[in-house]
Amino acid sequence: KKPKVLVARKTFPDIVERLRPHFEVETNDSEDGWPQAELIRRLQGKAGVYIAGGEKIDQILLDACPALKVISTMAVGYNNIDVPACTARGVLVTNAPDVLTETTADFGFALMMAAARRIAESEHFLRRGEWKQWSVTMFAGSDVHGATLGILGMGRIGQAIAKRGALGFGMQVIYHNRSRLPAEQEAPLNARWVEKEELLRQADHLVLVLPYSPAVHHIIGARELALMKPTATLTNIARGGIVDDAALAQALAAGTIAAAGLDVYEGEPALNPALLTVPNIVLTPHIASASIPTRRAMSGLAVDNLIAALTGGKPPTPLNPEVLGRS
Ligand code: GLV
Ligand code: GLV
Repeated sequence: KKPKVLVARKTFPDIVERLRPHFEVETNDSEDGWPQAELIRRLQGKAGVYIAGGEKIDQILLDACPALKVISTMAVGYNNIDVPACTARGVLVTNAPDVLTETTADFGFALMMAAARRIAESEHFLRRGEWKQWSVTMFAGSDVHGATLGILGMGRIGQAIAKRGALGFGMQVIYHNRSRLPAEQEAPLNARWVEKEELLRQADHLVLVLPYSPAVHHIIGARELALMKPTATLTNIARGGIVDDAALAQALAAGTIAAAGLDVYEGEPALNPALLTVPNIVLTPHIASASIPTRRAMSGLAVDNLIAALTGGKPPTPLNPEVLGRS
């Protein structure tokens, strides 16, 4: 008898089809995620689940779903999953790294450029019918080429953004990360490790690409924003909660920094209403990895992980591979 799996997120039908030879498959055909109680109900008797970044996998869910052996997320971030609790119960967790790196870096760069050159702000002005005359300083922003690019979190995506800045735009790259890159990786990126405070003070454009954990909650708040240049921009493509959104809205209104680009929010899909009242911000709905080829690749990798993990194969990207050896 085939094991049962649940696809808790609507995704590409042809990719879901790849599960059917191996499993009895139940799918979520609505665009909405299920509330946890509904997810728990549907997970009864399921050996595996396909999720994205929104489903909360905690001890309550794990205890209520003893048949569950594999959790496969199509996201690279996994702060919605209590991985240690999964490991303790012998539940394998897999994510979808690498396949989204370049696409996400493209978007981070685009958001940063849009903030620096005031693209969203000026478009709103134009749509409101307010363009009556041209002026020399109208929506004059700051340059990206030749500027200092600051990166907080120098993982794969951070490095891909650094590469764009250094090679394409002649930027100086400074970064802060728990671990320094080896010198031979820093050199081609024109990148230099600095303390967090120096990063804040020196960056013309600061991009956040670090994974969320409680330790980095509000790591960018009023104090940090006050250290930044008044001409600087801040871009967050990492996770909501890393930035104190209320403090950011205040800093933008006060001119503490020049502009911001946000793809992620505390409590999304709700957002702090103050963010909507400041003009010098570009807001997008958590779409940094959303190109069709990349969303297909992420989905495909999640399916590959699920199939391998439940059919005795080697899952390509496990987060807690120590579980694999156990029976
Ligand atoms: C998106 O935010 C992801 O983690 O893949
Ligand atoms: C991930 O989030 C990365 O930088 O690889």
